[in-house]
Amino acid sequence: MKKLISTANLYRDLGYILMGNFVADTLLKLCPVRRDMTVIELGSGSGKLGIAYALGGATVQLVDIDENALKCSSMLADAVKALTSINPYDPGPNVILTHADLFKEFYLITSKGFDLCFNEGVPQHWPRGDERRQGCIDRMAGLTKSGGMVIVIGANGENIMEQARDGEKFTYEGMPEKRDSFVPGELLDALEKAGLKDIRLYNLHHQNPHLVEIKLNAPFQEISRSQALYLIGTGVKP
Ligand SMILES: C[S@@+](CC[C@H](N)C(=O)[O-])C[C@H]1O[C@@H](n2cnc3c(N)ncnc32)[C@H](O)[C@@H]1O
Repeated sequence: MKKLISTANLYRDLGYILMGNFVADTLLKLCPVRRDMTVIELGSGSGKLGIAYALGGATVQLVDIDENALKCSSMLADAVKALTSINPYDPGPNVILTHADLFKEFYLITSKGFDLCFNEGVPQHWPRGDERRQGCIDRMAGLTKSGGMVIVIGANGENIMEQARDGEKFTYEGMPEKRDSFVPGELLDALEKAGLKDIRLYNLHHQNPHLVEIKLNAPFQEISRSQALYLIGTGVKP
């Protein structure tokens, strides 16, 4: 049977995904990796973001409701291990895969709370007014230890490109028809309602990736918000 993906191509693509991944770079800037840290990603998709932390030595739990997403993460973690280990007994990146609904109870690799809980592109898939939108952020805060960080990354609902994409057929099993990306004030409220402190919001420009902190009520933004594809909210668990 013809091989669909050659190993060489897979490695080339993995290299691209991991090294050229400016969202992972941004996460690592917002919450630098430490070897002793625990990280949980709720709705991990391909797993590439969590695996970036595992590469830095963190112990990472990836949670997704979709089995295919976890299969992809498993392949990615194995390939990263093959690429990075210098001897065959090296356990490689410490990634634990969990097939679960983020709103339900599931096995946690630590009972002490995580140093970091994050996701990218998850709560925006529930329309405004759907309780899962806030519920997801509450759950993230609940899994984080005191002093730990919550990071929510999503499309910027103020972005005209994002608005135009609404209704585009970019779907996976269980994804609702309509997506409503957070706008800054709304994300700020959601992080506050989840009981977090030191809340900060950022725009991330995708063409020339750099972070710009959003000062709500500021009369002028250095970079037009309507061009920034990503909106990022961070908060610390008291
Ligand atoms: C936009 S994707 C995440 C992409 C990921 N950040 C990446 O880099 O590949 C959203 C993910 O959330 C997962 N998801 C949606 N609802 C979920 C739920 N209730 N519990 C767990 N995962 C969920 C989906 O299966 C999907 O993989």
